[in-house]
Amino acid sequence: MKSEREQKLIEQAYAEIEKYEALVNRDRYRLRYHLMPPVGLMNDPNGLIDWNGTYHVFYQWMPFRTGHGAKFWGHYTSPDLVHWQAAPIALAPSEWYDKDGCYSGSAISCDEKLVLFYTGNVKDEQGNRQTYQCMAVSEDGFHFTKKGVVITLPDGYTAHFRDPKVWRKGDQWYMIVGAQSDSGDGKAVLFRSADLCHWEPLGPIAGGNSNWLGPFGYMWECPDLFSLDGQDVLIVCPQGLKPDGMRYQNVYQSGYFVGRLDYEQTEFLHGPFEELDRGFEFYAPQTMIDRHGRRILIGWMGVPDQDEDRQPTVRHRWVHALTLPRELRLVDGKLRQTPVRELKQLRKQKVTYRNVAVVNELRSWPGIEGDAIELRLDNIELFGSMLEIHLRHAARLVYNGDEGVLTLERKSFVNGLTEKRQCRLPRLRSLHLFLDTSSLELFVNDGEETFTARFFPHPDDRTILFGTHGHLHMDIEKWKL
Ligand code: FRU
Repeated sequence: MKSEREQKLIEQAYAEIEKYEALVNRDRYRLRYHLMPPVGLMNDPNGLIDWNGTYHVFYQWMPFRTGHGAKFWGHYTSPDLVHWQAAPIALAPSEWYDKDGCYSGSAISCDEKLVLFYTGNVKDEQGNRQTYQCMAVSEDGFHFTKKGVVITLPDGYTAHFRDPKVWRKGDQWYMIVGAQSDSGDGKAVLFRSADLCHWEPLGPIAGGNSNWLGPFGYMWECPDLFSLDGQDVLIVCPQGLKPDGMRYQNVYQSGYFVGRLDYEQTEFLHGPFEELDRGFEFYAPQTMIDRHGRRILIGWMGVPDQDEDRQPTVRHRWVHALTLPRELRLVDGKLRQTPVRELKQLRKQKVTYRNVAVVNELRSWPGIEGDAIELRLDNIELFGSMLEIHLRHAARLVYNGDEGVLTLERKSFVNGLTEKRQCRLPRLRSLHLFLDTSSLELFVNDGEETFTARFFPHPDDRTILFGTHGHLHMDIEKWKL
């Protein structure tokens, strides 16, 4: 059951979708196989869950403009992580405890119900922030009834306290919340509950200026904690890290620590922070465990405060999208991300070239082009200094074999200048690229590194060019998607 006020907000949001439907759909940068908002701004994926044979993805949504504000929870479902359907709007910011936004959170299954935990964001007349961790419940997975506040702000933290992720361990429920301590450090704070309604604060398990970590940002958003391949992984999005060589180039970061959570001592002993993605647009990822036991991650293809209002799609009254679902594995202490195998269902019209050679030239191959395609380059052998791939004259991948550096360049949508993101890569074996009309996701060496970005080529430009200084052999496979 929804309150009258929530009902009304939901009706207003539907009216907004209808009003701008034609304008949105006329945009040639609308993506073909990614999740996008029907209108307005989409940010974090929320409430990821594989529930009763259906995958659910909720998302942060501002229906009324292409900026941030009092967020709704939009909702998509899928039988297979590939074909998605819009579901009824799940939550609207209607109550005293969430009136300025139903902020990010997660989903669990309990007693055959789908239960959501989210942050109620509230601002008073003076603009002071308040924060409440809230619960909402559904019997059918589509209609949600708010149950109100389950956690108020504990001592020691500012009101930047949000994004609850809940999981079960043994006979207890646990929740990790992103926080800012009174001392101005980002933290991840653990809670425990037996009944999902009463939560006991256990304290911070990691954060800046603790666990041998020095200063590490002023706020940690969107924590996620899970076991994978025998270890525990804590994903967080620290705000306030300074660029450091090739690292931390975006406005805010998204990465992980590998370690072990001691539930008794409330302590997470962990290694160094690793960035999850090297591209321009990637933030606030969330994971779920699915029917096959896989740990699946979906991220936001955007970064807060990073020239969001300059994104070209704003003209068509929508902005941002979610990444493809990726399967996570932990290999030699590092996360490896690969696109879920179900995405092969999208493949059409395969074009293959085996053991081709490129010698000191820039060239194309018949059929290796397009705007929504999957491209695999395997068995790459580079005898020489450099490999480059031009994507529709709007982005370029460059591998410098002498320096062992992989670079993604794109034409900035702010000023048209070339900008870049990079990572170290001692050896390049394979590149696996998903291009959509205005996005790219690159998986390097079977997911050792990933680059996620939006890019905005001329809509009719379908050109892909390959070049070297030196001598290059590889296999090429391409599908239309
Ligand atoms: C991350 C974030 C979260 C917050 C949400 C609001 O992008 O700032 O911390 O819950 O977005 O939309």
